[in-house]
Amino acid sequence: MAIKSVLKMGEPLLLQQARLVEQFDTPQLHALIQDMRDTMTHLNGAGLAAPQIGVSLQVVIFGFEKNQRYPDADEVPFTILLNPQLTPLSEDMEEDWEGCLSVPGMRGIVPRFARLRYQGVDPYGNGIDRSVSGFHARVVQHECDHLQGILYPMRIRDFRQFGFTDVLFPGQQIIDD
Ligand code: NI
Repeated sequence: MAIKSVLKMGEPLLLQQARLVEQFDTPQLHALIQDMRDTMTHLNGAGLAAPQIGVSLQVVIFGFEKNQRYPDADEVPFTILLNPQLTPLSEDMEEDWEGCLSVPGMRGIVPRFARLRYQGVDPYGNGIDRSVSGFHARVVQHECDHLQGILYPMRIRDFRQFGFTDVLFPGQQIIDD
């Protein structure tokens, strides 16, 4: 398959609502997901949404191994999630740093629901239903926002905590997601 270039903030497609996937287990769908995996792995990202490689469909992938970044963040199992629906499990919000492959070189503090349930299907149409918290919940909210045309800077409340990664975290190697 292929490493795709990632669209950057400013591209109109990133602001679109993505379409539902209606056909599962097709060669086209598997090819899209393989391209997303190749691209995310190449860029060492924690997640990727299909619109970021120019496909306006409700497909996200994410996963995160401990110590890759954020030493305090929990491991997140590699997941392929289609047609997601998110339900907050409480009104509690948490603030933490986020980056995005579509907003390279920058990071900002973003409030997210601390606990949520997400439902959707895998590439074969099998149901996924999980209740998560912490970094797992944050990654899901970030990636699923991409399907609604929302980029994380649109969620920032305090722009004093938004800036260039190399200035905010000098000397640290921090990847985008
Ligand atoms: Ni992103």
